[in-house]
Amino acid sequence: MAYAIRVHRHGAPDVLEWQAVEVAAPGPGEVLVRHTAVGLNFFDVYERTGLYQAALPFTPGREAAGVVEAVGSRVRGFSVGDRVAYVSNTSGAYAELRVVAADRLVRLPDDIDDRVAAAVLLKGLTAQMLLRQVYRVRGGDRILVHAAAGGVGSLLVSWAKHLGATVIAVVGDAVKVAYVRELGADEVLTASDDWVAAAKAGDGGGVHVVYDSVGKDTFWRSLDSLRPRGLMVSFGNASGPAPAVAPLELSKRGSLYLTRPTLFDYTRARTELLKATQDLFAAIRGGVIRPRIGQTFALREAAEAHRALESRRTTGSTVLIP
Ligand SMILES: NC(=O)c1ccc[n+]([C@@H]2O[C@H](COP(=O)([O-])OP(=O)(O)OC[C@H]3O[C@@H](n4cnc5c(N)ncnc54)[C@H](OP(=O)(O)O)[C@@H]3O)[C@@H](O)[C@H]2O)c1
Repeated sequence: MAYAIRVHRHGAPDVLEWQAVEVAAPGPGEVLVRHTAVGLNFFDVYERTGLYQAALPFTPGREAAGVVEAVGSRVRGFSVGDRVAYVSNTSGAYAELRVVAADRLVRLPDDIDDRVAAAVLLKGLTAQMLLRQVYRVRGGDRILVHAAAGGVGSLLVSWAKHLGATVIAVVGDAVKVAYVRELGADEVLTASDDWVAAAKAGDGGGVHVVYDSVGKDTFWRSLDSLRPRGLMVSFGNASGPAPAVAPLELSKRGSLYLTRPTLFDYTRARTELLKATQDLFAAIRGGVIRPRIGQTFALREAAEAHRALESRRTTGSTVLIP
């Protein structure tokens, strides 16, 4: 037996209940991990509310770090006692113990602390995907980043600056401005400022790329911020799902591109996962990104953590401690 957060019905944060659950022994290709730190992601909110459908009841959570406690048959490369972390394409990380497919695990180097790993693996791999794969940001590019003080957003700002981009950042309110300036953003605006005008100022008539994780509230204005042939990267729905868009809307604004990437499609193959993880750990070691754990909560207090995330009170990453 172990404790986990269980969701029996979709709804507000108080549907997150701390309960005893049975833990199976790891099967072939699986490993039992004792979690030491669990990453909180906005994805967990979408599943809790039912925006993303998970079959009830379920344990939320897509990422954690911990120690291997038992190893199933046909597992190569992992032994009891190894420090590991994972991003999973199924939920279940809000738990003291979890059986995980070994091909999703990464071994943690000595210089990556468990809490840092839980803070950064999913969010940092997402930043790597967005800046290095969905679009390869280069020196001279101008980019617009929404929710720039958040988990993914703060990593995007510092990494894009290292790549030589000019970064226009948008945050929810004035208290987050100083933090995003410290990360190196060239301009920091609040959501109520005219960030479209800021994006359109300067050469080219708009930014090369918009990284939009806010969705409903920002989608059309994000499209309006692009230069002709610019790329709209819609990768989240913090304010609600982005609207349906007719191809003509892209044409009208200058032959724009639109993509809606998901990390799991960029890390399906283990080789892709390991390559992106290496890139991420190198970025941490090289000081390209400095993951910030803005707040921690006891895992059993996950509801409180969800309230803080949804009410836009968090900065950087949030880690839940079992
Ligand atoms: N596609 C993928 O594979 C992928 C992977 C990871 C994450 N994501 C997305 O990336 C985004 C960031 O994830 P995260 O876990 O790092 O979260 P986060 O950015 O730390 O938190 C979400 C932020 O969104 C902003 N926001 C704007 N409107 C909001 C609203 N109506 N309600 C709540 N928040 C609002 C808030 O920042 P301000 O107050 O500063 O506006 C808030 O801090 C999420 O949308 C997530 O779904 C996508």
